[in-house]
Amino acid sequence: MSGEEGTAVMSKQTKSLYICQSCGYQTLKWLGRCPDCGQWNSIVEERVEPPGKESRRSSAGQPQLIDAISLAPRMRLKTGIQEFDRALGGGVVPGSLVLIGGDPGIGKSTLILQVLGRLAQEGLRVLYLSGEESAQQIKLRGERLSVHSETLYVMTGTCVEDFFGHLSSLEPDVVAVDSIQTIYTDSLASAPGSVGQVREATSRFMTLSKDSGIPIFLIGHVTKDGAIAGPKVLEHMVDTVLYFEGDRGHVFRILRAVKNRYGSTNEIGVFEMKDSGLEEVGNPSSLFLEERPQNVSGSVVIPCLEGTRPLLVEIQALVGPSPFGMPRRTAVGVDPNRVSLLVAVLGKKMGMELSDQDIFVNVTGGLKVDEPAADVGIVSAMMSSFTDRPVDQRLVVFGEVGLAGEIRGVAQPDLRIREAEKLGFSRCLLSRKNIQRVTTPKGMELIGVASVKELYDALFE
Ligand code: TYD
Ligand code: MG
Repeated sequence: MSGEEGTAVMSKQTKSLYICQSCGYQTLKWLGRCPDCGQWNSIVEERVEPPGKESRRSSAGQPQLIDAISLAPRMRLKTGIQEFDRALGGGVVPGSLVLIGGDPGIGKSTLILQVLGRLAQEGLRVLYLSGEESAQQIKLRGERLSVHSETLYVMTGTCVEDFFGHLSSLEPDVVAVDSIQTIYTDSLASAPGSVGQVREATSRFMTLSKDSGIPIFLIGHVTKDGAIAGPKVLEHMVDTVLYFEGDRGHVFRILRAVKNRYGSTNEIGVFEMKDSGLEEVGNPSSLFLEERPQNVSGSVVIPCLEGTRPLLVEIQALVGPSPFGMPRRTAVGVDPNRVSLLVAVLGKKMGMELSDQDIFVNVTGGLKVDEPAADVGIVSAMMSSFTDRPVDQRLVVFGEVGLAGEIRGVAQPDLRIREAEKLGFSRCLLSRKNIQRVTTPKGMELIGVASVKELYDALFE
């Protein structure tokens, strides 16, 4: 082979380069700091294809009129696990790439194995690629979850190229990869789990799902350490991002959609972790209120909305004089800044001075509530604890609190009231504005309030 031919072959092969993610500077080896823009830790290995005709040809479709595009119905695959289907917006869309992220040990592998088990029961050929556990470990878990099927294949390995080698003989209908951080591709030199590897592997799976129409689930660990790439790096690449959340001390797990190209986000599915795996929770409100204490101060129930789903949760507050000069503020499940803001409003607009008090606010069950409609709940719980007067057990409250101490209306009051009524609550405190728009259900007394002062009077009249 002559020297010229040799270089021609070289240039056709794909190569990798280290590219700064903030300025685009390119180098042949990894550097801790970009010499061009000075950014630390921004250089990531990327595969670069020589500019060939093929890649250019395939990248764009023909321009067409929007009215001429047919809306061929995309049949969603139902897993039969309703909470899971709901989080996905009604089932798995063929050709979609779904990322399921969550803390280690939260139950991602359990969830995906149960989902695959169900899909296999429907007669689909399912492939579970695991880079974390041995086949025996997966089998053991499968026994525990009673997953048995003739069409569920398990493959252990961490190399993308190996996986693609087996693909044509198996022809799966659904693929799951657990976890994307353990998978690497030969075409890059960096270690598995690095940003470059995780991104490259994901883009391979993305191409596969788009070309073949196979839905692919990717499991990703949420990592605090920047050295290992977390699901955040991939969020923009995939079609759907689900986060599996929950407190490890609690049995509830929430599957939350944070991005969905095929459905609405903010949908949630609720599960309970049991010995035999994850069980669906059809009526989460009653579960979250199960252990509510009776007639104690500082406990208030609010109907909040998760996507289209109303959920009753208990907010607790503990307010007491601070033994030290520096009062403590701790908020679990709600935004601590929001709590500080509400404390300031109470001081200024009501003369309820809490600045020398320790304040703890907690949402029970390990839930997180981040809608402004919870404001009135937080304020009520703090008032109740501060004055040591319990609120009515059969009362729910909701509304947003403004900086002028006014109580503002929130979205979907009807849904919230109906959910409260379903669970046996008979009184509801809400903003005047909201009350004008809702139809009062039977057996429910609605009380409109316009300011925190009025709220106080209504709570403790
Ligand atoms: P796992 O799915 O391995 O978590 P991840 O893949 O997110 O790291 O589940 C981990 C925890 O779930 C583990 O501590 C044990 C618990 N578990 C149960 O309680 N019941 C079960 O049936 C299974 C399979 C696991
Ligand atoms: Mg796992």
